[in-house]
Amino acid sequence: MERIQSAIAKARAARSASGTPSDRPPAFFSRPQASDAARIAEAWEALPQVAPEAGQLARHHIVATRGGRETAAFDVMRTKLLHQMRAQGWRRVAITSPGAGCGKSTIALNLAFSLARQPELRVLLAEIDLRRPSLARMLGLREKHGFAEVLQGSARFEDNAVRIGTNLAIATNRAPFRNPAELLQGASVPAVLSEIESRYAPDVVIFDMPPLLVSDETMAFAGQVHCALLIAAAESTSASEVDVCEQELAGQTNVLGVVLNKCRFMGPDHGYGYYG
Ligand SMILES: Nc1ncnc2c1ncn2[C@@H]1O[C@H](COP(=O)(O)OP(=O)(O)O)[C@@H](O)[C@H]1O
Ligand SMILES: [Mg+2]
Repeated sequence: MERIQSAIAKARAARSASGTPSDRPPAFFSRPQASDAARIAEAWEALPQVAPEAGQLARHHIVATRGGRETAAFDVMRTKLLHQMRAQGWRRVAITSPGAGCGKSTIALNLAFSLARQPELRVLLAEIDLRRPSLARMLGLREKHGFAEVLQGSARFEDNAVRIGTNLAIATNRAPFRNPAELLQGASVPAVLSEIESRYAPDVVIFDMPPLLVSDETMAFAGQVHCALLIAAAESTSASEVDVCEQELAGQTNVLGVVLNKCRFMGPDHGYGYYG
């Protein structure tokens, strides 16, 4: 435990010493014009609305749908993230980790729900872990088309994504996709993402990514995002894995910080520490 915390502290010191990559464009998009507001509202309204069942969410440790003690750690994470992203004009954040099972999807969902409790924000959560999709199962959704098909250009976003409440859209996959690396590096992806963003004007786009040490998909996609959060699992991620992944990721995008998850000593419920 101490080793992983000192690795995280080291990574943070290295980040602040080298600064964030400053040669990258600060933002892909600018705020929509007021005249676009009606068009954007209409696009959101047209997304099919779902209301995941409370027991289903609780079973998957999704707690941030409403405020309270349990959700405080995510609300702090949200506030830090928003502060960092707004300061730089960033919208797209990738959530990744060294290995599988560190809690990326759990944190991505909780963060998305926490952000969406701020009614002035529009939030999009998109599933990029195409080998091990889990968001639909966690939310109890059964969509006809997967987000992989949207990225590929063979399905429309509005036939895949669902809306929860008024300002949270979630794009999931029902089944594993065959060649995710090829797809994620494919020529269609940047245009598809831009088109979605110009129609829905999200303030924050969260990408639930694959793990870094299992495939090259996250690195293949890193050029599409403005920044990333690295999730480490207290019980299973080693200090050197945090080191290696933080360095690799920092070569491709701006690393916002490392979140230490599944950390029992931090509390009986969840235990998240955000080491910005
Ligand atoms: N803080 C936590 N406390 C308890 N269980 C957790 C926590 N974070 C994640 N889990 C559980 O760990 C498993 C893996 O989490 P998941 O979010 O699917 O990881 P990943 O997306 O990184 O593969 C799930 O069963 C999830 O419910
Ligand atoms: Mg996952």
